[in-house]
Amino acid sequence: MCGIVGYIGNKFVDSVLVVGLERLEYRGYDSAGIATISSGELFVCKKKGKLKALNDCLKEAGLGGNIGIGHTRWATHGEPSEINAHPHTDCKNEIAVVHNGIIENYQTLKEDLVARGHFFKSETDTEVIPHLIEENISEGLETAVRKAVAKIKGSFSICVISESEPDKIITAKFGSPLVIGLGKNENFIASDVTAILPHTKQVIVLNDGEIGIVSEEKITVTTPWGDTINKEVETVSWKAEDIEKGNYQFFMQKEIFEQPKIIETVISKKVTAGNIITLEEMNLSNNYLAKVKRIIIQACGTSWHAGLIGKYWLEKYAHIHTEVDVSSEYRYRNPIAEGDTLMLAISQSGETADTLAGIREGKSKFIKVLSIVNVVKSTIARESDGIIPIMAGPEIGVASTKAFTAQLTALYLFALQLGKLNYTISDTEAKNKLEGLIEIPKIMNAVLKRQDEIIKLSEKYYQKKNFIFLGRGINYPNALEGALKLKEISYIHSTGYPAGEFKHGPIALICEDTPVICLAPKDELYIKMISNIEEVKARKGKIISIATQGDTRIQSLSEDVFFIPECHEDISPIVTVLPLQLLAYHIAVKLGFDVDKPRNLAKSVTVE
Ligand code: M6R
Repeated sequence: MCGIVGYIGNKFVDSVLVVGLERLEYRGYDSAGIATISSGELFVCKKKGKLKALNDCLKEAGLGGNIGIGHTRWATHGEPSEINAHPHTDCKNEIAVVHNGIIENYQTLKEDLVARGHFFKSETDTEVIPHLIEENISEGLETAVRKAVAKIKGSFSICVISESEPDKIITAKFGSPLVIGLGKNENFIASDVTAILPHTKQVIVLNDGEIGIVSEEKITVTTPWGDTINKEVETVSWKAEDIEKGNYQFFMQKEIFEQPKIIETVISKKVTAGNIITLEEMNLSNNYLAKVKRIIIQACGTSWHAGLIGKYWLEKYAHIHTEVDVSSEYRYRNPIAEGDTLMLAISQSGETADTLAGIREGKSKFIKVLSIVNVVKSTIARESDGIIPIMAGPEIGVASTKAFTAQLTALYLFALQLGKLNYTISDTEAKNKLEGLIEIPKIMNAVLKRQDEIIKLSEKYYQKKNFIFLGRGINYPNALEGALKLKEISYIHSTGYPAGEFKHGPIALICEDTPVICLAPKDELYIKMISNIEEVKARKGKIISIATQGDTRIQSLSEDVFFIPECHEDISPIVTVLPLQLLAYHIAVKLGFDVDKPRNLAKSVTVE
């Protein structure tokens, strides 16, 4: 986690860095800081808390210069505090470093450095880096950085500046993401492209083990041993306005409302005339796909929930046995994977450390990996054999919303495609299902238009201390997703359960004060779901149902109902999740929380 930025050029360095950090704040917001070099002298300004605190201190400090680095922190080693905030410096305060990632052998390095007379100020793992660089700075900054990174074990990316060479930033990627943005007589460095999008769309994406030497006029990328690498300059397709909030109070709300348009775009780009599904970036031949006998889906958080829904489609349409794992479990359970197994990795950011490790585990067993990603220049995208881009645009809110429904759409199309290839679904059936999907954006818009009904529900229930979410079949994963959305942004305890399993223990939690949100659209398990709702009602649980328009039976059982329009039952999760996202959002707003930056979290989880 953590976000790092660097800038060298003629603009006001502190404002370029701060704007960059604002875009990266979703990666962590325990503290923020920047370092610049002005008139040959290094200045550091850092503060605990969100960027606002740093901004206030920068106004007073009035830093100048044309080179600087910045950092926004998600604490790993050492509590959130000003001392532990980055940038960190060497003994003489001449070298400054910002770092994203973890240094696993920092304790040994620190003990050795202390024994050699270095003085440490913080509790962080990062601080060993400026001290290691300091030891060889007489050989030049570039060499000193190379020698330092050679001693570090872990996953990290860094930016370094030094008074001794105030015309360059040295940056290195060993695990955590890093891009260099190209400008005219200026260059940028950042953990991800959103930080530099207001300035440039031309980027060089660093791979692991690459070191960048960035000056105003020139960018050189080398191996750890100093051999120059010819890097491709890529153009980012995202637009600067994609990272603006517009008239919305929070990014999460904007992203919820963007969903119908995104699904429409995904469909229009991937379903061509005559209902042909084209997943070109997949890079896997039909011949190969037709031989796939088993699919392993691995992902984290909301992406894992999307995978759980994908399993229903893959097994139903393509008749392929599908397992779904959370990546942090998958990677350590010594999974069996043979030649006819395909791994599907799902990740919005494409940088999640556990998912990436799962991919590497799969590749070490020689299975092909197809990733469903939003950030197409991410490490996961680049390490996979092929990708299905979900085209959701930058997702800034820490709580994932638009990526989820776009992932579902991609999974649905992929399952239909495999079904057609395996002849387990006829062309006519596939055509009918695609027609159902094409209707979805319209249905989503109709649901979102009724936001006011959800606001009323949020006003009624926002003070409750516990929530339970229940669903069955294809809507069970949405019970997990609804509970995750609510707990991560409103800090209310909530739990999701398969409704049929509820009576095996958790039903003991039911009391008059516990709202139970029941996902009960008209599908093949509807009657079973009704029985489960009756069981909860008999124990005085307060039922809030998400049900299909016109369902009078459910109305009589529920305290409140939010109706969704009728849609094809297999794709109902793309619709039933919308009221859950809105409810979590409005409860968190009502409670006065910073919805886009919930406590303790970061958008992109790049540590294990
Ligand atoms: O970028 P990824 O999709 O790999 O991220 C996975 C999870 O960290 C993410 O979905 C997380 O659970 C969100 N905060 C959920 O809203």
